[in-house]
Amino acid sequence: MDIIEITKELNTHGQDKVAERLVALPENQQEKLVRQIEAIDWNVVESIHNAKNERAAEKHVEPLNAVEIKDIKENKEKYMSAGLDAIKNGKVAAVLLAGGQGTRLGLDKPKGTLNVGIHKELFLFEQLINNIMDVVKLADAWVPLYIMTSEKNNNDTITFFEEHNYFGYDKNYVQFFIQNMVPSVDYNGKLYMEAEDSLSMSPNGNGGWFLSMIYAGLDKDLRERRIEWVNVFAVDNILQRIADPGFVGATILSGCECGSKVVRKVSPDEKVGVMCRVNGHPSIIEYYEMPEELATKRREDGELEYGFGVILNYLFSLNKLFEIADRNLPLHIVEKKIPYINDDNELVKPDQPNGYKFETLVLDMVEMMDDCIPYEVERDHEFAPIKNKTGMDSLESARELLKVNGIEF
Ligand code: UTP
Repeated sequence: MDIIEITKELNTHGQDKVAERLVALPENQQEKLVRQIEAIDWNVVESIHNAKNERAAEKHVEPLNAVEIKDIKENKEKYMSAGLDAIKNGKVAAVLLAGGQGTRLGLDKPKGTLNVGIHKELFLFEQLINNIMDVVKLADAWVPLYIMTSEKNNNDTITFFEEHNYFGYDKNYVQFFIQNMVPSVDYNGKLYMEAEDSLSMSPNGNGGWFLSMIYAGLDKDLRERRIEWVNVFAVDNILQRIADPGFVGATILSGCECGSKVVRKVSPDEKVGVMCRVNGHPSIIEYYEMPEELATKRREDGELEYGFGVILNYLFSLNKLFEIADRNLPLHIVEKKIPYINDDNELVKPDQPNGYKFETLVLDMVEMMDDCIPYEVERDHEFAPIKNKTGMDSLESARELLKVNGIEF
């Protein structure tokens, strides 16, 4: 497209300001912006105008039984042996989702580079590597680790791992790949710009991880290594157990295509997505979409019927991932703080949300599975997310849990 066509397209979509800025740019600086505009999927950007939440549509919701801690204890040996067997035979890989921006933490570097230490350095990435190393030692086998970054943090992430010698992980088993970006908009759907020659772009959510692996050619790597199971997990849970043999074993033995680590909710109104079955499929209902009568419903033993929340740690069968790779995930419109340039071309970093980003989420993949086994873990030992600056799910709360687990920092 030439500049005239692009300007016309922008005007058609009500983006006159971007069009003006594009035309005002010297010709030799237009290329980047032009490429970004050409790549825009207007259906995505304009979805805010017809944003009736698809997930809130008529649903038949049923409980989905979890393997609870007491069952896990009883079957520990069986699960561990099946899981370790799979890991030793190189059938399990792990994918670290580290493409997010950590806007709530207000970091301007990759979240995993956060130093949680007080008496000594302990980086988030470092502790995650320590966690997976426990399994590597137990199984006496390396687990291939793929790390998803975004254009914004890829170089910093790779440099950090290089500088720290991969925290002792064998770098032949670590590969990075970059996720896609989408433009962000203000509350009226107008595109934000973060520089005179660039739209405000942000990573497109953690749901695109498998497609991004395919774009990066890593599907061949997975096949060549004869991987059968992929453990996907979030960067910000410092107690995250990765390629946990018990979890892997229980999932394999269950015959399900997917496993999801869950924690018991502390109260009916706790803000976590809950595992259940929707219209016959395993699914996760976000706390804000959960009707109160279901959230408070109790089983005969007094426990909550919908009492298990997800912690962004899933195990997927690779065959199933290939099968669903070309299916569209629902789009989530998320309010975030979006840096932008104002009319004087000064970069503004807002301290309150000022618009929307567009994301697909890995949790929506669960719904594409025929079945999924929720696997209960003890939250004090496995769930210490660092999302906020203070209070709940913050560095402070994670430090408390590191202490509980005897981890020095
Ligand atoms: P969050 O949903 O907490 O997002 O990510 P975030 O970007 O890290 O933080 P906020 O919301 O801006 O404060 C959950 C997990 O998914 C990854 C994150 O890195 C984290 O591990 N993620 C999120 C991606 O890999 N890509 C994304 O586009 C979004």
